[in-house]
Amino acid sequence: MENQRICGKKGYVVMKILVTGAAGFIGSHVVARLLQEGHEVTGVDSFDIYYSRGQKEKNLMPVLLHPQFKLVEDNLAEMALVKVIKGTEAIVHLAAQPGARGSWGSSFHRYVTHNIQVTQKLLEESKANKLKRFVYASSSSVYGDIAQREGQDIAILNEEMMCKPRSPYGVTKLAAENLARLYHQEYRMPTVSLRFFSVYGPGQRPDMAFNRFCHNLLHDAAHTIYGDGKQVRDFTYVDDVVAVIAAAVTSEAAVGEVVNVGGGSPCTLLEAVALLEEISGKTCPKTFLERQKGDVFSTRADTAKLERIFGAKPKTPLREGLQRQWDWMRKFVQAEDEEQAIKAQAQPITEVDEAALAEAKADEKATKKAARKAEKATKAAKIKTATSENQDQI
Ligand SMILES: NC(=O)c1ccc[n+]([C@@H]2O[C@H](COP(=O)([O-])OP(=O)(O)OC[C@H]3O[C@@H](n4cnc5c(N)ncnc54)[C@H](O)[C@@H]3O)[C@@H](O)[C@H]2O)c1
Repeated sequence: MENQRICGKKGYVVMKILVTGAAGFIGSHVVARLLQEGHEVTGVDSFDIYYSRGQKEKNLMPVLLHPQFKLVEDNLAEMALVKVIKGTEAIVHLAAQPGARGSWGSSFHRYVTHNIQVTQKLLEESKANKLKRFVYASSSSVYGDIAQREGQDIAILNEEMMCKPRSPYGVTKLAAENLARLYHQEYRMPTVSLRFFSVYGPGQRPDMAFNRFCHNLLHDAAHTIYGDGKQVRDFTYVDDVVAVIAAAVTSEAAVGEVVNVGGGSPCTLLEAVALLEEISGKTCPKTFLERQKGDVFSTRADTAKLERIFGAKPKTPLREGLQRQWDWMRKFVQAEDEEQAIKAQAQPITEVDEAALAEAKADEKATKKAARKAEKATKAAKIKTATSENQDQI
């Protein structure tokens, strides 16, 4: 392809890549990594209101002025995709409405639009573009509670298992994954679906557990834990996820596959909280609430396929990754608190200085009067000139 260049250092092909959801937690790390590898990146993000625009702007700060990066702020559900797809060689599709707990009830239409319809729109629009890769961000939530159904304590989830999601969010992620599979089968689209397991690290979404726990520790607030805290998660550090995404963009072996991207650091929520308390040197009281609808008991990835295709698996130990997230959170929350304090200190002007207002109004009146007088004088002078010119012509 004429746009391709071989990157001298590592020998891989450099491409024009579209990253959807570029301002989000994982998306912003992906953009940084792809730019580092020499690719040309266009990022699309709608800066959805699910969480603060401020956090997303901060996520993108390190890459915003990069000469190989272009940001398009738009909603993929509404925009004309040709604007961002033309000339694109690979798509990393991360834009979505995340969060399993919020996917019940009246919010469901958001999940259908952002997760299913947008994916279908992107796949359909990409058909004619001879893409080299379409990397779809799937989720461990497609599996559901296989562990409980099969009567095991902790099931190791592998890609061959039948998926029975436990939340509407999981249903939409599985539907989009199936769409990617269909477009691969019927149109030879080079799709790869990566099932991420509980991603954490700097920039993590504010609704996710580790972000909330760090917040509580920094503000001496109580931790809210849904269920007994013994639910197991296979926590995966964001850089490890990003490394697999970057490899999937160029790897031939990944095409048409569904692959788990799990951390190899499974532990219970209570163990993770204890580790965070050790790192921060602080503790918080815990409030236990009823298990939430859609929360699964255990997620643990079988990484055999990941290792077979990519030759590596996530390697960041939980303690190291949590330390990095804690360091980031401390700075982020401090900056956030300072912004709040400045806003609170700013004195809003609520009283009107009546004398100054009267003076300003009088000035305005005088100015208008003078302008009218000048206009009248100009008009009179014009009439006088015109009359004398007409008289001359006669
Ligand atoms: N974070 C995790 O642990 C995790 C686990 C499994 C799967 N995933 C998947 O990974 C992807 C990224 O997750 P994240 O945690 O970074 O979420 P995020 O909310 O931080 O990022 C998603 C971004 O997409 C944008 N977006 C949403 N709808 C859009 C639209 N219609 N048009 C343009 N932009 C849109 C949002 O503004 C947001 O910036 C999602 O697809 C999610 O389902 C995440």
